[in-house]
Amino acid sequence: MKKFENPIYVTRPIIPNIDLFQKKLVEIWDSKIFSNQGKQHQLLEKELLEVLKVSYMSLFNNGTIALITAIKSLRISGDCITTAFSFPATPHALTWCGVKPIFCDITDDFVIDSSKIESLITPKTTGILGVHVFGIPCNVDQIQKIADFYGLKVIYDGAHSFQTEIDGKGIGNFGDITMFSFHPTKLFHTSEGGALTYSNSNFKKRIDLLKNFGIKNEEEVVMTGINGKLSEIQSAIGLVVLQQLEEERKKRELVLSTYKKYLKEIPGIWFYSFSDNIKNSLQYFVIKIDEKIFGKSRNYVYDKLKEFNIFTRKYFYPLCSDYTCYRHLESSKNLIKAKKIVNEVLCLPFYGDLSLKEVEVICSIIEKLRK
Ligand SMILES: Cc1ncc(COP(=O)(O)O)c(C=O)c1O
Repeated sequence: MKKFENPIYVTRPIIPNIDLFQKKLVEIWDSKIFSNQGKQHQLLEKELLEVLKVSYMSLFNNGTIALITAIKSLRISGDCITTAFSFPATPHALTWCGVKPIFCDITDDFVIDSSKIESLITPKTTGILGVHVFGIPCNVDQIQKIADFYGLKVIYDGAHSFQTEIDGKGIGNFGDITMFSFHPTKLFHTSEGGALTYSNSNFKKRIDLLKNFGIKNEEEVVMTGINGKLSEIQSAIGLVVLQQLEEERKKRELVLSTYKKYLKEIPGIWFYSFSDNIKNSLQYFVIKIDEKIFGKSRNYVYDKLKEFNIFTRKYFYPLCSDYTCYRHLESSKNLIKAKKIVNEVLCLPFYGDLSLKEVEVICSIIEKLRK
C-alpha cells in the first residue's frame, strides 16, 4: 500500500468562512470594542445557550482558565476525586487551585468509575471532577447521588462534549458546573476559548466577577479574580463557526459510519457505540486494540500508520497519574483498568473533510497490519 502524499492528522478545525468573518471584523472595527463583553460576546453567549440547551453560561478565553474558575467559584479545597485518563488540564486545574487530585479508576468506556468513588472519600474530600472523555457521558446520576449524600460539589470537564445530550438534555446541565473547551482541536471552536455552564442562576455573578479580576465597579475589587475574558474577535470566529457546525456534523456522521463499517470486520479492534439516548459530540473516533486478538500492539499500529503519513494520537497516554508531578500520590497506584486501557487506545483521523476513500484506505492498512 502506498503512503498518503499529504499527512493526515487526527483532526482538522472548521475553517471559518472568510467573507462572513470579514463582515464581523468590520462590525468590530466600527464598534471600536475588542473585549469586555462586547456585542459579539453577547451574541455568542445567547446562541450557545440554545445550542447547548443550558440555562446559564459564562464564556472564557480557554477551557483551562474556565476550569480553574469553576473550582475557585465552588470553593473546592483539600482533595477532589478525578480521573487520570484525561488531558493534563484536568488535574493541573485542581493543583493550580491548591487542591490535591485523587485519582479514581475508569470503566471500560473510559470515564471515571462511579462505583469506586465512595471508597476514595475522606474528611478532606470536597468535590468530584469527572471528565466526559471523548464525549462519553460519566454516570451522572450515580455521581450526583454520591455527591448529595456526602455533601460534595460536582464539576464536569466537558471539553469533548459539545452538544452531547442525555435523553435530549444538554450535558452542561449535570453537576454544579460543566466546562467546555473551544480550542481549534474541538468540533466547535473560537480559535481559543471555553465556557462554563450551570443551572444555578446565583453562580453567574460570582463566576463573571472571577473571570474579570474580581472587579465589581470602578471603586471595588471584591475577590482575587483572573483574566478569563473571551475577546470580540474570538467571539466572532465562534459565531461564524456556529453557522458551519451542522454541515461539519453531517460529514463527520458519514466518516464515522464508514469507519464502523470497515472496522467491525477486524478481530481485536473495538470501538465505542453510543446508545440511542445519547447524542454523540462527534469529537473523536477512538478505537481499542486488543493485542492478544489483533496480534499487534497499539504502539506498533501507531508507528506503522506514521509510515503511511497517517498521524493518530494515543489519547490519553501517558495517564496523568504517571506524570512526575503526580506519580508519588497514593491514588496513582491503584488504577488497574486505566493502566491497561491507556496502552490500547488510539484516536484515528476524524474530521468532516476526511474523504470516505481515505477512511477506507486507513482501515485496510490497519487490517493488513494484522498479518
Ligand atoms: C479533557 C480536556 N480538558 C481540558 C482541556 C483544556 O482545554 P483548553 O485547551 O481550552 O484550555 C482539554 C484540551 O484542550 C481537554 O482535552
